[in-house]
Amino acid sequence: MHSLLALLLLLLPWRSSAVEGDGFCSIPQSIMQTRSRPLYWKVTNPTLSPSHLQDLPGFTRSVYKRDHAVITPESYVFSPLPDWVNTLGAYLITPAMGAHFVMYLAKMQVKSKSALPPQDVERFLFVVQGSAVLKNDSGISHELPVDSYAYLPANYKHSLESDDTVTVVIFERRYVSLENHYPEPVFELRKLLPASAPYDFNIHIMDFQPGEFLNVKEVHYNQHGLLLLEGQGIYRLGDSWYPVQAGDTIWMAPFVPQWYAALGKTPTRYLLYKDVNRSPL
Ligand SMILES: *[C@@H]1O[C@H](CO)[C@@H](O)[C@H](O)[C@H]1NC(C)=O
Repeated sequence: MHSLLALLLLLLPWRSSAVEGDGFCSIPQSIMQTRSRPLYWKVTNPTLSPSHLQDLPGFTRSVYKRDHAVITPESYVFSPLPDWVNTLGAYLITPAMGAHFVMYLAKMQVKSKSALPPQDVERFLFVVQGSAVLKNDSGISHELPVDSYAYLPANYKHSLESDDTVTVVIFERRYVSLENHYPEPVFELRKLLPASAPYDFNIHIMDFQPGEFLNVKEVHYNQHGLLLLEGQGIYRLGDSWYPVQAGDTIWMAPFVPQWYAALGKTPTRYLLYKDVNRSPL
């Protein structure tokens, strides 16, 4: 039965070609088949766009080095987040790399709920897709639509909840306290985290038009966690040049030379973590 079907499929292209040829078909059947689907189609029609390269067995653009890492979506590994309800998470940057913070994606499912970060750990979350509700211990809730963010100081009791699927990127860090300065919770739509002294890190949203690039070839004591939200371009990290696109994660250790140029047809937008306001000593 199967071989009969295979034979029928083999015959079909030949039959339609014969009709096109107005009846005088003298070309051997094997050549006709070669025409309708070349044997070496990968050589004559190479598929070298990044989206196709990702399908190559064993291929990944992900790189992990001593002073930087590029983690691309085909390398993201999701598993249930400890103590969260109905949520899968992928830790993309962690202290095991050399970072002093974590950055992870949380994919919240139907009827999901977050857990608290560990003791003395502050949290920043940014909604990448969907909409969630943030509640505090007094039952006060804030709607967090796509592109909005919240900052929760260390030991601030809260939960993020959703009835539908939501994707959130989260940065967490052990808070470095400063005498007489106390950070407040912040809930915002597309604004930056206050740059004032109580906060020991900033999150920036960086926008580039295609062709725009960083003016400074930066080398600095701060570290970065970056999530590329839109667009594509080339990131230079140390002596390596990486083609990057939306969905990619980058970790930059202190003092890794860094530079970005936005390329392609669409603007670039990325979310950037940077430690600030504390002595590096
Ligand atoms: C919850 O949030 C409200 C409004 O921002 C605030 O007045 C209240 O003190 C918060 N409750 C707790 C327990 O932090």
